[in-house]
Amino acid sequence: MLYGIISDLHSNLEAVRAVIEEGKKLGIQKYICLGDIVGYNANPKEVIDIVRDELQPIAVIKGNHDEYVSQENELIGFNPQAAQAVQWTREQLTLDDRQWLYSLPMTKNLWQLKTTIVHATLDSPEAWGYIFDKYYAENSFSYQRLPYCFIGHSHVPFAYEQIGGAKGVIQAGRYEQIRLNPNHKYLINVGSVGQPRDGDNRAAFCSFDTDERVVTLHRVEYDIETTQKKIYEAGLPERLALRLQVGR
Ligand SMILES: [Fe+2]
Repeated sequence: MLYGIISDLHSNLEAVRAVIEEGKKLGIQKYICLGDIVGYNANPKEVIDIVRDELQPIAVIKGNHDEYVSQENELIGFNPQAAQAVQWTREQLTLDDRQWLYSLPMTKNLWQLKTTIVHATLDSPEAWGYIFDKYYAENSFSYQRLPYCFIGHSHVPFAYEQIGGAKGVIQAGRYEQIRLNPNHKYLINVGSVGQPRDGDNRAAFCSFDTDERVVTLHRVEYDIETTQKKIYEAGLPERLALRLQVGR
């Protein structure tokens, strides 16, 4: 079975559509979504509808933006652009949409795929921490019961591999394709569909061939100009449009 693993779509309709088109060409049969469906860009309603009603992934988990948007909390400690985008997004969604976001789980074990999914880290998913290096990866690995774990959150495709059990050596690096060894543990960031931050402005997602045990990173060009235009028209911060161009 060929799965598509998508994360950090962030209301970017053009990027999501481009990824789905690429997925059709690749023969992706089912999707897994790692959260941050909304936030930052200007089509939250459309992107929720696509994920929930069209893609119908075998699993969807909650990202930090999904959480913020689904609640009524004041946005303390946010950078002003993120706060403005969260507030704007709340106003675009129906109560149903926000309840759906609220209902998403923080993590999920997909036993048949030997896979766990979480948006941020397994050691404290609700704290929305980042895995900056091998020490952070080790903390997450210590809560990982299944060989493979896919994450999002940093918007940077990156992989950690732990070899030799719980205290084993951890290797880390960028990747294009990984052949998984079921005796090792993996923590794989699939990158971001809707707001890449690794200096490559193309949408990022992974395919996971569960028969061959191969994970492949894909990059897809999309109509950035249209996405930017919508950001300006919505009155969202200019910086959110500019960063799409440079992929930062
Ligand atoms: Fe995100």
